[in-house]
Amino acid sequence: MASNISKFDLQGQSFKRNPHPTFAAMRAVGPVVPSKIMLLGKISFVTTHEATTAMLKDPEHFVVDARGAGHERQVGLKWWMPKSLHLLTQNMLGKDGDDHRRLRRLVDKAFHRKTVDSYVLSIRRVTDVLLDDLAASDDGDLVAHVARPLPLAVICDVLGLPQEDRPKFTRWMEGMSSVSNLMGFFRLFPALKHLSGYLREQFEARRRDPGDDLISALVQAEEEGDQLSEDELLAMCFLLFVAGHETTTHLISGGVLALLQNRQQLERLIGDWSLSLSATDELLRFVSPVQMTKPRFPIEDMDFFGVPLERGTALSGLLASANSDPDAFALPEQLDIGREKNRHLAFGGGPHLCLGLQLARTEMQILLEQLFQRYPDLGLGIADADLRWTGRIGIRALTKLPLAK
Ligand code: HEM
Repeated sequence: MASNISKFDLQGQSFKRNPHPTFAAMRAVGPVVPSKIMLLGKISFVTTHEATTAMLKDPEHFVVDARGAGHERQVGLKWWMPKSLHLLTQNMLGKDGDDHRRLRRLVDKAFHRKTVDSYVLSIRRVTDVLLDDLAASDDGDLVAHVARPLPLAVICDVLGLPQEDRPKFTRWMEGMSSVSNLMGFFRLFPALKHLSGYLREQFEARRRDPGDDLISALVQAEEEGDQLSEDELLAMCFLLFVAGHETTTHLISGGVLALLQNRQQLERLIGDWSLSLSATDELLRFVSPVQMTKPRFPIEDMDFFGVPLERGTALSGLLASANSDPDAFALPEQLDIGREKNRHLAFGGGPHLCLGLQLARTEMQILLEQLFQRYPDLGLGIADADLRWTGRIGIRALTKLPLAK
């Protein structure tokens, strides 16, 4: 494969504000664009909807564990990183085949549509309380008062973590969302240590006194059939916690912003709430809060959409580019909350398709209904030009979203 490293800025404010021109330029280079990013090093981005879908849905040829494609260790992990970080990354998202299926099967049921339907009442209640907090706040910041605490409260409920511990998590998790450089990455380690220690205490408590929650179910699985070691349990809860929390935060803030900036679409939704599911999917496509997948590695030399790939090349599906590909979506740069046949890849695809997609969709639908039914005339509390996005690669995240009633 041509090794010309392309220089596209995927972190700057102007990219985060409007990523479409960058993605169009990348797709013009081709379906596979060699690049280089912090900590991961050389990585090639798969830019089109067709090629990204093909890669994600072909686990026989593209693996997530680099060792299956000739590497010595999992990519991203370096010898100098602390043991706790190595351990926490040993989750289903880094495993292939039977190892992956075994871990996913243990938690699948807690995220099925039917189970998620049983969380609806409690999600509505939490959303209501948080909207009261927002109304009482001085800054009207949707991120701090709703978009962060809502998914955190929901995933804590699913896992069965006590309400009173939530301020602690918020502190630990805040460090994670602000990592945009190597220093930020180092500052993360103490928070990871606290979180691991805390989760281990929770496992112990649930062994002694099981409840009707996911941690209790997982602890039992561990004890019954040698199914899950304590380290695997820790890695699983950590993944659910991180994946279930941050991503939804950025969908909520980015999605509400998109509606406020596309007032006609917001009026359309307020006039017809039966559109709330398709609006949610369109906002997922439009915002693409998770902009890229974890790396995949071809297990052999191959030709991929006319591009020769060497075994072990690190590839990442650029989901946000796939979601704005005009070959897959009519007028992709426009928000259309009634979009039909919306085959967006915001949740990835193939065997690692997001486990929490029903939960995330449900949270977003409830939030949209409750927010805009309360405040149909809501507006932005600051000038468009003053909005700031985090500089973290791969995530599209507003730092604040001040609203005005
Ligand atoms: C808007 C919200 C969300 C977005 C955009 C999102 C996006 C994604 C994406 C793109 C992947 C695949 C990554 C890859 O293939 O490399 C993924 C996987 C995953 N997500 Fe989500 N996610 C969201 C919410 C959630 C929630 C609420 C949970 C709940 C626990 C969750 C749990 C997971 C897990 C466990 C995986 C790994 C699945 C596997 O490896 O089989 N996500 N997510």
